[in-house]
Amino acid sequence: MAALNEKIVIVGAGCFGVSAAYHLLRRGFTDVTILDRASSLPAPDAASNDMNRIVRSAYSDIFYTKLAREAITAWKDREEWADTYHECGVVVLGFSGNESYADGAYENDKAFGANLKPLSGGDAIRAAFPPHVPTASFDEQSGYLNSDSGWANAGQGLALMISKVIALGAKVLTGKNVSDVVRDNGRTTGVRCQDGTVYDASLLVIATGSWTPSAFPELTPSYTAGLSTGQCVAMIQLTDYEVELYKDCPVVLDFSSGFYVFPPTDKGVIKAALHVAGYTHTNGSGISTPRTVTTDPKRGLFIPKSDLQQLRKHLRGVYPGLADKPFSATRLCWYNDTPDGNWMIGRVPGDSSLVVATGDSGHAYKFLPVIGRLVADVIQEKMEPSIAAKFAIERQYTEVDDSRRGMLVTELDLDQLCTLEDLVAT
Ligand SMILES: Cc1cc2nc3c(=O)[nH]c(=O)nc-3n(C[C@H](O)[C@H](O)[C@H](O)COP(=O)(O)OP(=O)(O)OC[C@H]3O[C@@H](n4cnc5c(N)ncnc54)[C@H](O)[C@@H]3O)c2cc1C
Ligand SMILES: *[C@@H]1O[C@H](CO)[C@@H](O)[C@H](O)[C@H]1NC(C)=O
Ligand SMILES: *[C@@H]1O[C@H](CO)[C@@H](O)[C@H](O)[C@H]1NC(C)=O
Ligand SMILES: *[C@@H]1O[C@H](CO)[C@@H](O)[C@H](O)[C@H]1NC(C)=O
Repeated sequence: MAALNEKIVIVGAGCFGVSAAYHLLRRGFTDVTILDRASSLPAPDAASNDMNRIVRSAYSDIFYTKLAREAITAWKDREEWADTYHECGVVVLGFSGNESYADGAYENDKAFGANLKPLSGGDAIRAAFPPHVPTASFDEQSGYLNSDSGWANAGQGLALMISKVIALGAKVLTGKNVSDVVRDNGRTTGVRCQDGTVYDASLLVIATGSWTPSAFPELTPSYTAGLSTGQCVAMIQLTDYEVELYKDCPVVLDFSSGFYVFPPTDKGVIKAALHVAGYTHTNGSGISTPRTVTTDPKRGLFIPKSDLQQLRKHLRGVYPGLADKPFSATRLCWYNDTPDGNWMIGRVPGDSSLVVATGDSGHAYKFLPVIGRLVADVIQEKMEPSIAAKFAIERQYTEVDDSRRGMLVTELDLDQLCTLEDLVAT
């Protein structure tokens, strides 16, 4: 049982690390330090930082539906989150009538009494958009609209929570690239950073997202540390006229392809992306490591050409009027995947001073207001056994990630990355 004055060091100021700090401080812990290697926060290449993330309760696993609804209730508190959350609704596509992810998500959303509208066929789906918006026909498709969902401004939300933890007394240190866990007789006692500084800890939380498998390989011989996978994102800059047209659109998320697209941000930028198996980047080392704008400032944001084409094709299947516009930017964004899509939140077996909180599997951001409760529960040994088993880092993986069933991960081929010229439609 952790004492409230325990010296807690959290490595990683993303969604897991910052939310953990927040909930620990709220529960009365007094000595919490967050270390991040970035020189400014939120880190520019953190998964938790960019302009938007879908906030949905549409999950085929009811545990996440319930937790997401708690998160959405929190997001709606404007005193806490200002205008971070935008409740534009989410159109979930991909009903198959055959236990598909979307079918299961609908049943779970329904069980919680969410504001839902089944959308069967093209007419119904088109009616989920404002009447003047030119959409695709959506013939032969079906799904549902969940109006109690939307998107969050990811960078803004994380920055707000970082300021909250500082106000609650946490130390948040930047430029601290943790290179080693310091151990004594098999028990963690702190961390060493690349600049040589050492931070003592009676409890260490590793929350380094997609960098975890490559940054701490020595910690993980006995369990899966996750698999870092790059996922493709592309942005389109709208004109003022287009912003007026598209501004009241819902988020569209098609679980049959993994494609999703947001309404425009306040800067008039539409983001489209793929939630799929994604790419590893091992460079022959056997461990996939994020390739980002930090590791390659010139080309770190480029995605494979074939994905650019896929994104354009799928965009045409939602907003044909935008499909021939140039992409204004692209990004490979890195998940830390577990085989079953459940997070890893638990103590490392044999070392009661070490907690791991990662394995986001591409769906953790929406839980920012609440996910740290789970980490605090682990630390305070309050977690219900069934939930502890779900997230245990040494669990046996008997299920696959249902949201990406049957998709295969491939190694990133740097020769196939797009160039600036490819961003323009041909
Ligand atoms: C393209 C994309 C789309 C997504 N869409 C959604 C969505 O629509 N809805 C949703 O809910 N979720 C979404 N996600 C998932 C969500 O963004 C992630 O689950 C979440 O941000 C992961 O948070 P994290 O704290 O694990 O990692 P991160 O946010 O990456 O944080 C890790 C931090 O650790 C730091 N760090 C790493 N190594 C070290 C080290 N050695 N020493 C010190 N610091 C270190 C990094 O600088 C970083 O700040 C998406 C993710 C991506 C990539
Ligand atoms: C239903 O889904 C299962 C598993 O995904 C698949 O094997 C089966 O062929 C599908 N049946 C129909 C009628 O589509
Ligand atoms: C952090 O340190 C690792 C080695 O421990 C190094 O590979 C990496 O480039 C460093 N990252 C930053 C952002 O300094
Ligand atoms: C692999 O790493 C080496 C050394 O960092 C680098 O020079 C090379 O370009 C990398 N290759 C790939 C395919 O990433």
